[in-house]
Amino acid sequence: MKKNNIKILAIESSCDETAAAVVEDGRKVLSNIISSQIDLHTIYGGVVPEIASRKHIENINLVIRDALKEANVTFDDIDAIAVTYGPGLVGALLVGVGEAKALAYGLKKPLIGVHHIKGHVFANLIEHENLKPPFVCLIVSGGHTEIAIVKDYNDFEIVAATRDDAAGEAFDKVARSVGLGYPGGPKIDRAAKLGNPFAIEFPKARVNDSKYDFSFSGVKSAVLNYQNKANMTGEKINVNDLAASFQRAVVEVLVEHTVTVAKDYNIKNVAMAGGVASNTALRSLMEGKCSEEGLKLHFPSPVYCTDNAAMIGVAAYYEYLNGNFKDLALNAVPNLEL
Ligand code: KG4
Ligand code: ZN
Repeated sequence: MKKNNIKILAIESSCDETAAAVVEDGRKVLSNIISSQIDLHTIYGGVVPEIASRKHIENINLVIRDALKEANVTFDDIDAIAVTYGPGLVGALLVGVGEAKALAYGLKKPLIGVHHIKGHVFANLIEHENLKPPFVCLIVSGGHTEIAIVKDYNDFEIVAATRDDAAGEAFDKVARSVGLGYPGGPKIDRAAKLGNPFAIEFPKARVNDSKYDFSFSGVKSAVLNYQNKANMTGEKINVNDLAASFQRAVVEVLVEHTVTVAKDYNIKNVAMAGGVASNTALRSLMEGKCSEEGLKLHFPSPVYCTDNAAMIGVAAYYEYLNGNFKDLALNAVPNLEL
């Protein structure tokens, strides 16, 4: 089997973006098409799974057509079809998985199943040519908050996780409760820039019995209590101060634990992945702490932090090299483990 000029057509439909990309040799993104459903779900204040699935069906052939066109290739040039098969919303995942299986069968191409979070981590390889395992990666998305040690391309060890909500989920819930709306992360990020992060002291997002694990339920409840108290006393809330203070409580712990893991495991390269990795406060604090500690920090451009198919094409390349192919029995696995 050839090892160079491997072009993979990758499909991602695990949540509310329908995406397709063509990636060459796991690093070179020839196209990256994303059809976002954010506007559609905004009126409901969050992703409605049934609507997401229906929209994926409408859009999937269009994004694939555009991905091939932008990459200036045809199906003949494609060496394998890759798809996210979990974790995510089952109905949403099924649209991508069904499409990928149909293409693989019809075109007689190998089929590769990709773990969504592995894709997020490998998004770091797109723009950082010199980044190679081992590295420590903070994974912060709407459904995940973990610290992984990427020992090799196919060898991940999860050393920290959240005991309750994911970081992005906490951002989304707090944003909704203070009336900033959906999607919460970018809205809190923006509001926080106008606020004082030291205005309110919220509890830190950590747990007592673990050096590395996270817990976001305490800080989330503290924000809700703060709001209820203000409502009862008729006190006006400064939303920008609240956003900035909440964000500080979350971001400081994310940075502290990631740097601790890198030092404890003596790994010099640090990366960040997932939607929350585009948070400006997280990026700047992580940058500062890493440079203080002599660590090298990497993070993807915002377009590769949130859901996209290019990252799936990157992760798929390493499955391809390992000969790790799926057959037509491939199914969506909503709670797929890493
Ligand atoms: O990785 P992603 O696109 O989807 C999942 O796999 O979950 O992450 C989406 C999450 C949402 O919770 C969103 O609010 C959050 O990432 N997010 C942010 C920012 N941009 C997106 N959180 C904080 N600050 C941001 N700038
Ligand atoms: Zn994601």
